[in-house]
Amino acid sequence: MYKVVTKRFLNDSKTICLFEIEAPLVARHAQAGQFVIFRLDEQGERVPVSVAGYDREKGTVTVMVQAAGRSTKMLHTVEEGDYISDFAGPLGKATEMEGLKKVCVVGGGVGCAIAYPIAKEMHAKGIDVTFIAGFRSADIVILKEELKAASNKLIMCTDDGSYGEKGFTTVYLKQEIENNIAQGLPQFDRVIAIGPDIMMKFLADVTRPYEISTIISLDPIMVDGTGMCGCCRVIVDGETRFACVDGPDFDAHKVDFDSLLKRAAFYTDEQNEAAQHICNITGGKRNG
Ligand SMILES: Cc1cc2nc3c(=O)[nH]c(=O)nc-3n(C[C@H](O)[C@H](O)[C@H](O)COP(=O)(O)OP(=O)(O)OC[C@H]3O[C@@H](n4cnc5c(N)ncnc54)[C@H](O)[C@@H]3O)c2cc1C
Ligand code: FES
Repeated sequence: MYKVVTKRFLNDSKTICLFEIEAPLVARHAQAGQFVIFRLDEQGERVPVSVAGYDREKGTVTVMVQAAGRSTKMLHTVEEGDYISDFAGPLGKATEMEGLKKVCVVGGGVGCAIAYPIAKEMHAKGIDVTFIAGFRSADIVILKEELKAASNKLIMCTDDGSYGEKGFTTVYLKQEIENNIAQGLPQFDRVIAIGPDIMMKFLADVTRPYEISTIISLDPIMVDGTGMCGCCRVIVDGETRFACVDGPDFDAHKVDFDSLLKRAAFYTDEQNEAAQHICNITGGKRNG
């Protein structure tokens, strides 16, 4: 069993919540870019979430979780001092940072929570970090102060202009790339993007003509998280890869976004049905 040491909602609308979990073995090995799979209880679904931070001395791992459906909404009801059944990891490969000097990290929505530890670690290593954080609206904005501290330059934008700049992250990424060219500044040697698949697809289109190396973190449906079930398969450079063991980071210019977007929509009906389902035995929605 794994104890919830800290619980804190990160935005006004309480859609994203931070949990610090006591998990010394995971904390000992966790690195930015990796993920864990938790289960609330023995009948619970396996839910993959990224490592948003870790404290090796305290033996804790931090995750930031958006209430997307049934399991994540149930997690949001867990309180400090409660225990969850499983917290397995770290899984997947850590984000590569070797040799980088100037990077643009782009986060979309809860993707900012996943991108934050990557930016923080790169900034601490002396890499020049520009962070572009995009949200639909002001009420779901997270990590304002943390992202500022983890970057040399922070651009926050919302689709409706209710916080920061108005518009999509793609606009500001292109603007930053063009600024580097116009001012004779070194160009980004990597763009790292994490967010909705559609955002990452369009960001890849922005960087392609400039030939800027672009890495995205994929979050396809995962079950075992160990490369056994094949559920998380993605096509990269014409080959089948498993996001849980070969990723979650992949070269954005080689990912087949059309098949990725089709697979992501595959279980929508079942997920909606599960969210509505009331168990005849327990009378509650949890694990019914
Ligand atoms: C490597 C990885 C890292 C992730 N990191 C984070 C994170 O740091 N914070 C966060 O809020 N979310 C993260 N996610 C997404 C998170 O796993 C899903 O939101 C969660 O599984 C939804 O489950 P649910 O029962 O609440 O919702 P459901 O109603 O079951 O699903 C809602 C949506 O979540 C996605 N989803 C559902 N089941 C899975 C699954 N087993 N694996 C992957 N996606 C699924 C689907 O896109 C679905 O449309 C990550 C996913 C992956 C694969
Ligand atoms: S989740 Fe089963 S192979 Fe990746």
